[in-house]
Amino acid sequence: MNMRKEVSLWALGAAAILLLTSCERAKPSPYDTSLPVLEVMDHLVDPGAWAFWRASGEVTDEAGAKSLTPTTQEGWLAAENGAVQVAEAGNLLLLPGRVRDAEWIRLSKKLTHDGLEAKAAAEAKDSARMFAAGAEMFKTCTACHQKYVAALQPGAEPKGAPLPDWPADVKQKQNQFLEGKKQ
Ligand code: HEC
Repeated sequence: MNMRKEVSLWALGAAAILLLTSCERAKPSPYDTSLPVLEVMDHLVDPGAWAFWRASGEVTDEAGAKSLTPTTQEGWLAAENGAVQVAEAGNLLLLPGRVRDAEWIRLSKKLTHDGLEAKAAAEAKDSARMFAAGAEMFKTCTACHQKYVAALQPGAEPKGAPLPDWPADVKQKQNQFLEGKKQ
């Protein structure tokens, strides 16, 4: 092979590689992530978490303490459905276009882990385990919001509608859970 031929072969090879990599880059993402994270929260994560949280622990009103543990098959199913929504939402937060940094990845994976534990607890109809799973899940929501929700950043100018405060019974779940861990 003469020098000239060799050089043009190299050039051809380089051109082919360039063409391949640019095709690779132009390949459109198979995912449609046009729904902003806010919508995923409002319509998937939040309703899922609430379906689960509403099914463990107890609420106290004028009539006294009332257990939230489901008493019907539909009640158990609703709790399990909610847990699955949360678990799979963790995966959706990791899609290209939504994923941010290493901490986001860690917390999204934790959300999936918490959702799966919540599902297992509901399947086992174990209300104490559900309570603990719900509290763990709550901590994951809060940790992520503290880091990524702009309105919650220290020194942030209040803008738009900040996250609503958590209703008392969820706060109570969280506190009871943390107290239990200390002992
Ligand atoms: C991996 C991070 C992450 C996790 C985990 C997470 N969130 Fe969020 N959430 C966000 C971000 C970011 C926003 C703000 C989005 C924006 O304003 O654009 C948000 C906003 C929200 C909102 C406000 C929606 C509105 O209309 O203002 C609710 C409600 C919410 N999350 C519920 C939850 C619940 C419940 C959980 C746990 C079960 C949870 N989130 C877990 C990142 C997360």
